[in-house]
Amino acid sequence: MMQENSINPFTVYFSLNNGLSDTKNPISRHLSDMKGMYYDNEAFDKMMENGNPLTYDFYDLEMPETDGDLAFGTSVTYPGKVGMEYFMTKGHFHTILDTAEVYYCIGGIGYMLMENPEGDWDIQVLTPGKAVYVPPRYAHRSINIGNEPFITFYTFRADAGHDYGTIETKGFRKLVLEQNGNPIVVDNPKWK
Ligand code: NI
Repeated sequence: MMQENSINPFTVYFSLNNGLSDTKNPISRHLSDMKGMYYDNEAFDKMMENGNPLTYDFYDLEMPETDGDLAFGTSVTYPGKVGMEYFMTKGHFHTILDTAEVYYCIGGIGYMLMENPEGDWDIQVLTPGKAVYVPPRYAHRSINIGNEPFITFYTFRADAGHDYGTIETKGFRKLVLEQNGNPIVVDNPKWK
């Protein structure tokens, strides 16, 4: 017997090849949704003149926002660069800051960039089969450093909420750029 406000058991398919569901529509972020988030505005504008590429997809399954439920889905960051900076997600803190998240890589190669308000930061490399633990208080951003889609499956406490605004305003302390074909981590000159 089901309690009130509870959700019934269900399954959802996410492809191990492209990360996408066959029954749910992803939320798609195109380059235009990322205005001001890449450090090289000139490269951004130039790229926009030649189209508005899809940079990442992710899912919101609209789970009940309670501390007993889990939100989950896949995130697919496509390969590409704005200037020297790899395609990435906006990144966010959780509104309830003391909530963690797990990402499990099922395709491609990428970085999980993390930082907390106390000034600690970290980067972990993800390849298929690797899971990363994003501790409570850490903002997190997926960055595709390879040539194929960087696909992860994630889950977090369903009432955690997303604070995109802090990162949109301040940025992350670190940027990941390509130099001589390799990813390098540098200080973000625009970080406030
Ligand atoms: Ni999150």
